[in-house]
Amino acid sequence: MSLRSFMEKVEKRGNLFTISKLVDPYLEMAKVINVLNGKVVLFDNVKGSSYWVISGICSKRDYFALDLGIERSELLFTLARALEKPIEPELVGEAPCQEVIEEEVDLSKLPILKHVEGDGGPYVTAGVVIIKDPDYGRNMCFHRLMKLDSRRFAARIVEGRGTHTALRKVEGELEVAICIGNSIPVLLAAAMSPPKGVDELAIANALRPTPLVKCITKDLEVPADSEIVLEGRITKQKAKEGPFIDLMEKWDIIREQPIIEIDLITHRHNPIYHALLPGRSEHKLLMGLPREPTIYAEVSKVCDCKDVLITPGGMNWLHAVVQIFKKHPDDGRRAIQAAFKGHASLKHVVVVDEDVDIYNPLDVEWAIATRFQAERDLVLLKRQPSSSLDPSALHVQGKKSLTSKMGLDATIPWRTLEGKLRTEEEREGFKKVKYGEVSLEEYL
Ligand SMILES: Cc1cc2nc3c(=O)[nH]c(=O)nc-3n(C[C@H](O)[C@H](O)[C@H](O)COP(=O)(O)O)c2cc1C
Repeated sequence: MSLRSFMEKVEKRGNLFTISKLVDPYLEMAKVINVLNGKVVLFDNVKGSSYWVISGICSKRDYFALDLGIERSELLFTLARALEKPIEPELVGEAPCQEVIEEEVDLSKLPILKHVEGDGGPYVTAGVVIIKDPDYGRNMCFHRLMKLDSRRFAARIVEGRGTHTALRKVEGELEVAICIGNSIPVLLAAAMSPPKGVDELAIANALRPTPLVKCITKDLEVPADSEIVLEGRITKQKAKEGPFIDLMEKWDIIREQPIIEIDLITHRHNPIYHALLPGRSEHKLLMGLPREPTIYAEVSKVCDCKDVLITPGGMNWLHAVVQIFKKHPDDGRRAIQAAFKGHASLKHVVVVDEDVDIYNPLDVEWAIATRFQAERDLVLLKRQPSSSLDPSALHVQGKKSLTSKMGLDATIPWRTLEGKLRTEEEREGFKKVKYGEVSLEEYL
């Protein structure tokens, strides 16, 4: 399973948008990708680089489903299964990602995009960083990488993530492999935060076979089908990283971040570089979609969870809708608490019954309008740990940000405001009345 096999599938369906006009990665390509937001776009004539550039491969739920060979509605359950039952990947001796070995490192050969004038520099945005934690083993995580010069990047390494905790444990430098141009299973798994010690590459392998190969200069394994692998070290030196457009479509601040130095580049013949536009659909979906199975897993522990959606209006990060099959008067409230456990950055959640279409915001709002009473159905949690990305949260330098969280139980209320239990017939009265079906042809 590779990026190329996905591209073939998209092309066969006539959905691959190829641009053969010369396009500059410096301040031009990002504008074109932005206009084509939601489409898979391939640039095969890139100014200053022999690499091709692909973008948008994760910008729609349909693309994930297409790659995994499933229906869109099965995505949540497929990811939940892989998260629950990872499968150790096979190790191979030879791999496409090592077809070409470049000992002379020159990052300027890569078509690293500078997105907008105010960016701190050109940024690698779809680089999957693989490291080994001395206690927990292999970890895979996205880190945006700001190019400093022909060998070095400043990497944004968020506190508490797998890479950060491993880095704190080692005295010297930490070996890394940065994989660019990955399969969709690898991208999905890299965006997940399974419990410590669970190998994200085994999750990718459970989604689709993902053979690995040993790096040439580092004691690390990488997906054999990656397009490009940068072997290097996270050094103890730091540099200014940023500004950069974040998930909320605003400027993220400048921080002192670790420097990564590259020692060797390997790649496939005719390598394809993946450029992911910050703050747009591909970035958002890749952040949010892998949190749906973790919410689902937690809610399933307390009631019958049917579906979960992290909604686009909440930047695919802060808001979710959870659908349950209610069997107990308190299931809605229990689901709210569990959802917050399943995704620590979640700020607002709405819980609905199985008759509400969670993919239709109007239907969810209808449930809130007709089933919800704030004095009974609102769960308000004050001063909770917050996503660092929410500008309205309380941010204090060096401390975890704090936020209020809100859960709306918009399921059919089994109790009246006075606390009296409603009969099943009374509860049925909350459902929409349906008109019968007709065939219009009979009337026109
Ligand atoms: C497109 C994308 C970009 C990301 N960029 C960063 C980043 O720059 N730094 C970071 O620490 N995490 C970033 N993340 C989040 C981590 O990849 C994600 O939370 C991961 O699950 C953490 O895994 P870990 O806790 O096992 O290390 C990004 C995620 C996505 C999907």
